[in-house]
Amino acid sequence: MSQIIDGKAVSVKIKNDLAVEVASLRESGVKPGLAVIIVGNNPASRVYVNNKKKACEEIGIYSEEYALNAETSQEELINLVEHLNVDDKINGILVQLPLPEHIDENAVIQAISPLKDVDAFHVQNVGHIMIGDFEFLPCTPSGVMELIHSTGIEVEGKNCVVIGRSNIVGKPMAMLLLHENGTVTICHSRTKNLAQITAGADILVAAVGRAKFVTADMVKEGAVVIDVGMNRDENGKLCGDVDFEAVKDKASFITPVPGGVGPMTIATLMKNTVKAAKIQNHME
Ligand code: GUN
Repeated sequence: MSQIIDGKAVSVKIKNDLAVEVASLRESGVKPGLAVIIVGNNPASRVYVNNKKKACEEIGIYSEEYALNAETSQEELINLVEHLNVDDKINGILVQLPLPEHIDENAVIQAISPLKDVDAFHVQNVGHIMIGDFEFLPCTPSGVMELIHSTGIEVEGKNCVVIGRSNIVGKPMAMLLLHENGTVTICHSRTKNLAQITAGADILVAAVGRAKFVTADMVKEGAVVIDVGMNRDENGKLCGDVDFEAVKDKASFITPVPGGVGPMTIATLMKNTVKAAKIQNHME
């Protein structure tokens, strides 16, 4: 029987500490501000954006939402980003992904000022992460690291397997585990003998985007299992990439969905926004 890692509880603690910090920043005249841009009406993106705005309110971060219609051109979107880059009220800019197909996501991300890139998606920030000298960490991988730390288990020397190689999660996740001296394997859709590789993992991070993809036979007895997935099962119920019911009896620690990684992504975004405000006000 495993211990459930309560991401919600860990995130509440982070947000409470941030609320105290933001109150004191405001007293010294610094009011952290986040702009969130959403294009089109992807229902999942709408939920994420609402949660981000709610977290800002709880902590005392000023936020602006730009909800643009699905036909918005790339040029219009980049113009908005460039306007926000020089807006003093705004310390962090987040463009919710995915964007509609006619927009080049990379062109938009690279238009964000690296100083306001609270997602850490800009190539300059990605490069900083690669060499281990960074200001901002990408929200989901950073949240995962905090959850691993909350178990008291050391990453150093552990076999860490990441399933998924996206720029948002898989690649930076591997890098953060590597920075803590994990022995890291990245698996993806072309990986051969996947189950054999994952079964050797002391720490397994699933970021595949497929409901209940990780089954009990793919998990080592006593592993720490982190589920980044957010899917719907055959009954339309929210579920992760891990078959939670089957895997929970094998893992030492496991994150639930919902209530695991999701809240931590938002907590890290809030942290990054506060940090961005401090850097832009020469306080860090
Ligand atoms: N879409 C899914 N995850 C993320 C994220 O962490 N940041 C942004 N901007 N979009 C996302």
